[in-house]
Amino acid sequence: MNTAIVGHALRHDSALLHASGGARFLDDLPEPAGTWHAALALSPVAHGRLLGLDLPEGVRAILPADIPGENDIAPIGQGEVLLVENLIEHHGQPLALLVAPTRDAALRAAAATRAHIEALPPILSIEAALEAGTFLVLPQIIAEGDVEAALAAAPHRLAGEFRAGGQEHFYLEGQIALAIPGEEDEMLVHSSTQHPTEVQHVVSRVLGVPFHRVTVQCRRLGGGFGGKESNASSVAAAAALAARVTGRPVKLRLPRRSDMAATGKRHPFLYRWQAGFDEMGRLLALDAILAADGGHSLDMSGGVVFRALTHALNCYGAPALRISACAVKTNHVSNTAFRGFGGPQGALLMEDVLHQAAAQLGHDVEALRLRNLADRTPYGQALEPALTRRVLAEAKADAEWDRRRADAASFNATHPTLRRGVGAFCCAFGIAFGIPHLNQAGALVHVYTDGSIRLAHGGTEMGQGLFIKVAQVVAEVFGVPVETVGLAPTSTAEIPNTSATAASTGSDLNGWAAHAAAVAVRDRMAEVAARHFGCPPEGLRFEEGHILPPGGNAGMRFGELAKLCWRERVSLSATGFYRTPDIHWDAERMRGEPFFYFAYGAAVAEVLLDTLTGEHRCLSAHLVQDCGRSLNPAIDLGQIEGAFVQGLGWLTSEELWWDHEGRQRTLGPSTYKIPGSRDVPPVLRARLLEGSEARDGALFRSKAVGEPPLLLATAVVNALRDATAVASLDLPATPERVHAALRHR
Ligand code: MTE
Ligand code: MOS
Repeated sequence: MNTAIVGHALRHDSALLHASGGARFLDDLPEPAGTWHAALALSPVAHGRLLGLDLPEGVRAILPADIPGENDIAPIGQGEVLLVENLIEHHGQPLALLVAPTRDAALRAAAATRAHIEALPPILSIEAALEAGTFLVLPQIIAEGDVEAALAAAPHRLAGEFRAGGQEHFYLEGQIALAIPGEEDEMLVHSSTQHPTEVQHVVSRVLGVPFHRVTVQCRRLGGGFGGKESNASSVAAAAALAARVTGRPVKLRLPRRSDMAATGKRHPFLYRWQAGFDEMGRLLALDAILAADGGHSLDMSGGVVFRALTHALNCYGAPALRISACAVKTNHVSNTAFRGFGGPQGALLMEDVLHQAAAQLGHDVEALRLRNLADRTPYGQALEPALTRRVLAEAKADAEWDRRRADAASFNATHPTLRRGVGAFCCAFGIAFGIPHLNQAGALVHVYTDGSIRLAHGGTEMGQGLFIKVAQVVAEVFGVPVETVGLAPTSTAEIPNTSATAASTGSDLNGWAAHAAAVAVRDRMAEVAARHFGCPPEGLRFEEGHILPPGGNAGMRFGELAKLCWRERVSLSATGFYRTPDIHWDAERMRGEPFFYFAYGAAVAEVLLDTLTGEHRCLSAHLVQDCGRSLNPAIDLGQIEGAFVQGLGWLTSEELWWDHEGRQRTLGPSTYKIPGSRDVPPVLRARLLEGSEARDGALFRSKAVGEPPLLLATAVVNALRDATAVASLDLPATPERVHAALRHR
């Protein structure tokens, strides 16, 4: 096959529009005449009974009684309310919707709304929830061997406990929707969502109409990162409800404070473990509990727990183990998907275990890493330890590991207060939705008679470069320049019953679906061309915008063939469908092969630490990520760099903070510290693993890249462990925490 297009470092289809301001995000769309604006009145307390509301005059207030369908926005299960009816379960929970001709008037009305509340005591920590036994996801256990006996027999026994914090998505474009009522009970919803189908379902449920009445459309998101996977639905449902009640188009754009208060975040985790090691530092037994703070409602905590559980051993193994993972219910905002979906939290476990073992048994942690690599996961899926070793060795070579360590040591020997630290990390991240039936996708390809192509698929573009990758696949099939492929907004009217663009599967799933659609049309076109040239269709080549018969004869332009097909009344449009093969999971036995393949990555990071203040910064990072045969190396490098910096924020500076009454106090960038341009390490070298190929059946033998490199930021934590000589750190390792850890060393 001609690989002129797939595999090329083409720029993002919207790069110039992004840079010039020409890219239209939802709020840039012209508002239909008569559009009104909505705002949410939010709960001032974390837990309580709502007794009544004092609503301001002169605006339309919408309450649960106005809901024609169900007051339920649950993405999975049921019973997650759009607007509180009685029980308030977190600070920032929506109580009422205020609608007015201008956004300012709506926001003023929301701020002026007073709630009468009988306060109840909130549950505000994972520990308290474990004690109270309030679970959203009951403990799920992967076990192997007799862990008690293996622990008892191990020459060395260690135990640990640590925490990892949550993370606000901080997408640049906040949550937003514009709902436009149509005839009778039709509703068109423009939504900044990773999951148009779910928005369609939730809007239908709230309005009490069949799915076919609701169309959800999205051209692009200004970032999602998992935060618009389920959380976009409530915003869209609120806008649609207001549009239904007022009969007008209604836009709801959350101010940053409301967005941070009312929508979910990455799950914080609490870890408790016991491990047994032999003299060589080989892990003999591991008994661990991972407890996630799910917040007040289920949302997608089941999936997050599953991924944390399946990634808790990362690329390592133990002959006897028992890993238990659960999500507890607290009076925090309901936590949700965030890049990695519990995987990054899971992979922190073994870093704590290995670093403590190295410190206490007097080994080099890097030796323990290699000594404990496994060739299969504890749930029975094969791993490729050779690939792990290779990415790790390459990251270390890129970073000049030995020289860098020696330089750090001599710096530390001479400097009284500053310390340098160097750390490494490697990981295997499973690609596929943990729930097998979600691994499906659809696409729709039209060829027009001028030879231009329109491509629609069920994936959403959130900056990650999905659209250009899928366009490359289609251009490759037809042998046309990628500019020939016009990109359509994602719409539930064109592609039905889709999955979220999530789990890093966007290009794998939608790329294959679009491939199928394009091949269906191309095969029909080839029949026509074969008749025209008097040759078998297999002999034809689709190349550089032409169709070439065998034997070097002059061919015809792609557009000419399209026109010929039309004249011969051959359809130039096809749908395509794809389902990921081979994946399965046995929930009884907690065994299976839930992932289509693993994406491997490794990193080395160096930090500089001020031991007087705990302040630190990352000086350099060398990253190697296995993208198989990359569909688009330019996009993939951008994903690796961006994911690393996002992970750096999660692990070192972004701290969510609730006061003792459960009020979230980090509701903007003044109190919540996302990485700025100066936090990006001055040396940031990301590289794709060369000569790698994904398994049979992977799209052009590429591997997904969206989430896995976020985990690589764990190398920065390991560099901090090195600089502080503290093996176990609570995360995020903010200057305060590092300072405290140094004093308690
Ligand atoms: N990159 C950008 N620029 N913006 C985003 O919102 N989301 C991430 C990742 N990369 C995101 C991103 C997340 S959480 C996922 S699951 C994947 O992109 C989803 O897209 P993909 O499956 O097409 O990689
Ligand atoms: Mo990504 S957390 O799977 O949207």
